[in-house]
Amino acid sequence: MPKLIVVTRDGNETEVEVASGLTVMEAIRDNGFDELLALCGGCCSCATCHVHVDPAFLDQLPAMSEDEDDLLESSDHRAANSRLSCQLPFTEQLDGLKVTIAPED
Ligand code: FES
Repeated sequence: MPKLIVVTRDGNETEVEVASGLTVMEAIRDNGFDELLALCGGCCSCATCHVHVDPAFLDQLPAMSEDEDDLLESSDHRAANSRLSCQLPFTEQLDGLKVTIAPED
């Protein structure tokens, strides 16, 4: 199974295996990282699944929707590599992707 590397807010790195069909948010949540709240359950309306993505993978991710862009705009921690992890289906091509859970807003 492809692997996702999750970096928590305190800088701890953990590698998790991701079953097919999950989003990055679901993979993080299902592996017990409770600092990623994902309050809306993935319907792109809360922005509590905000992550900073390894810039090397940015061009392999699906394009950002207007809704995602608007939600990220409300975060004080938006960076050039910010994405909402519920909007990122995890695929084989993303094997080795590293994401850092963004600071809480
Ligand atoms: S889980 Fe709410 S926007 Fe991603």
